[in-house]
Amino acid sequence: MSGRPRVLVTRVIPEEGLEPIRAACDVDLWEDELPPSRDELLRGVPGVDGLLTLLTDRVDDVLLDAAGPQLRVVSNYAVGFDNVDVEACARRGIAVGNTPGVLTETTADLAWTLLMAAARRIPEADRYVREGRWRTWGPMTLLGPDVHGATLGIVGFGRIGQAVARRARGFGMRVLYHDTSRASASVEAETGAEAVTLDELLATADFVSVHVALTPETRHLIDAAALARMRPTAVLVNTSRGPVVDTDALAGALRDGTIWAAALDVTDPEPLPADHPLVTMDSCIIVPHIASASRATRGRMASMAAANLLAGVRGEPLPTPVPPEPAAGR
Ligand code: DGY
Repeated sequence: MSGRPRVLVTRVIPEEGLEPIRAACDVDLWEDELPPSRDELLRGVPGVDGLLTLLTDRVDDVLLDAAGPQLRVVSNYAVGFDNVDVEACARRGIAVGNTPGVLTETTADLAWTLLMAAARRIPEADRYVREGRWRTWGPMTLLGPDVHGATLGIVGFGRIGQAVARRARGFGMRVLYHDTSRASASVEAETGAEAVTLDELLATADFVSVHVALTPETRHLIDAAALARMRPTAVLVNTSRGPVVDTDALAGALRDGTIWAAALDVTDPEPLPADHPLVTMDSCIIVPHIASASRATRGRMASMAAANLLAGVRGEPLPTPVPPEPAAGR
């Protein structure tokens, strides 16, 4: 490559990432709030040496062909990389990076917030006050389950699942987990979590929190059959990826009282249409995919994504390349 590398950054990210990229590269920055459409993305990539993508950008054979053979790196601004065809990149010798680790605690904080908010009906209670319905202290008003002392089931016991388990210890909860591989004895001892089958977890837990990566195996892992195994008093929390839960089955389960409540940071599709049943139900909390959205964490993600991008365009090993085989838990 002669001169400065050319890169496309598909959204405005924190300066911690943009500043080092601008210092080293000629940058095409997509400045709109909405992501580039597929056509806009295909028109933007020809001739770039590096791509900094978001989970809203599909990176596949067509996009890589449109970019051309000089493309050296795809740096995804996320820990998840289900939007990137990693094999298609590998076939072309294109490195792929992600941002693991830095968002673990922030994402676990949000999972915990959702769990608490669903149990204690916080959005519904807030609406109750704002809509002028609060007339007196009511012995039967807005009752929900206790969180302390309840049983938490964690599906996907990677970094984030384990961080959620640590929070549960402070609430005196029994913690069950399910993953494709067993955690080390030291992790089990530190978190107090017990490995169980998915069926046992679903049938036993008062709260089920999902933390798996999206893969063909985990798509619709929580489907109508899985929901039917859960307790009618159970709360489902999803901060992983929307398609891990079958959206229509979840709407049906909440409508029919198969489970009690759900709290979602991610949906399928994103966003859900405004008139989707889940959006209209008091028993379902939905926030707009904000699990990693603390200022500090988004800044760290930006630095990591920039470091991967710059290493890639220089032909150096990426600081955080995506793992060849994604672990079940994130
Ligand atoms: C990720 O990193 O995969 C999240 O979904 C966005 O922070």
